[in-house]
Amino acid sequence: MRHLISLKEQTKEDILEMLDLAKEIKEKRRRGEITNYLPNKTLIMLFQKSSTRTRLSFETAMTELGGHAIFLDSKTTQFVLTDFDDEIKAVMRFGDVLMFRARKAADVELAASFNWIPVIDACSEKYHPAQTLSDLLTMAEHSGGIENVKKITWLGIENNVSNTLKLACSKLGIQVFIAAPESDSNSQDNELKNQADKTGLIKYTLDLKEALEDSDYVHTDTWMNMEFFEEGKVRPDFQAEFERRKEKFLPFQLSAKLIDSLAPQSKIMHCMPCHVGYEITKDAILHPNSVIFDQAENRLHMQKAIVLWLLEKKI
Ligand code: CP
Repeated sequence: MRHLISLKEQTKEDILEMLDLAKEIKEKRRRGEITNYLPNKTLIMLFQKSSTRTRLSFETAMTELGGHAIFLDSKTTQFVLTDFDDEIKAVMRFGDVLMFRARKAADVELAASFNWIPVIDACSEKYHPAQTLSDLLTMAEHSGGIENVKKITWLGIENNVSNTLKLACSKLGIQVFIAAPESDSNSQDNELKNQADKTGLIKYTLDLKEALEDSDYVHTDTWMNMEFFEEGKVRPDFQAEFERRKEKFLPFQLSAKLIDSLAPQSKIMHCMPCHVGYEITKDAILHPNSVIFDQAENRLHMQKAIVLWLLEKKI
């Protein structure tokens, strides 16, 4: 049975297959074709953390594939009352694929370990494989094929998104320059790091000129973790860490000035949500090189490809 957890388990061919599927299904949508390849199939979407894009894209993807998606918020279900392993086993009896935005990657791995239905890590503290796959689609589109992407740069903090991005890029032969003074300790996975590093394609540097020179795409993501915030405000117990990170990462902010001076050839990417004035400036989001909104839309096309690929469904 196939699962999508960290991309450690996928080969270069698997990744290219999902990319091709996403391109094809996107093109069918553009032509107005019906794409109901998954009638009577149900995707269960379990969220332990908030989401805009991941929820919208998976839910819309299932509608357009002729299937159905069920949204479960862990806070308003019996997950709060029970042992996780019992409750997830019951949940998995109702669907054909489980998409799980989890506080802990270990819980996604536990669900997958039962091998009952395919499981997707939809952003845990360590991985965000669906984001990475759709980012590859965006880069492929803007470069006339993923084989034309030679170098990308990651700015800011190393985290769940950079983990899966650097691993996938290294599998595809793309150089990744990481300009990050720190990595989020919760996101660390030595096995993943070793797999990526041993390709010789990952370079770690704090020299922005070196990191950005000849780079095709510059990516960044929030310096702050979701749990730092409650109702849009910084939680008092995370205020000190919030301030520390702000000071530490500000030299690595993705701005129009940075792009215009060091990487005018580079496209600007951010998986969103953007924290304007922190990891990215408004003028970078709106810069002519920005592909951020294409990147957001491509979540939809790639989610379809992921579900079809997991169910081994040809189109
Ligand atoms: N990039 C991403 O996963 O967005 P959401 O948190 O809104 O789902």
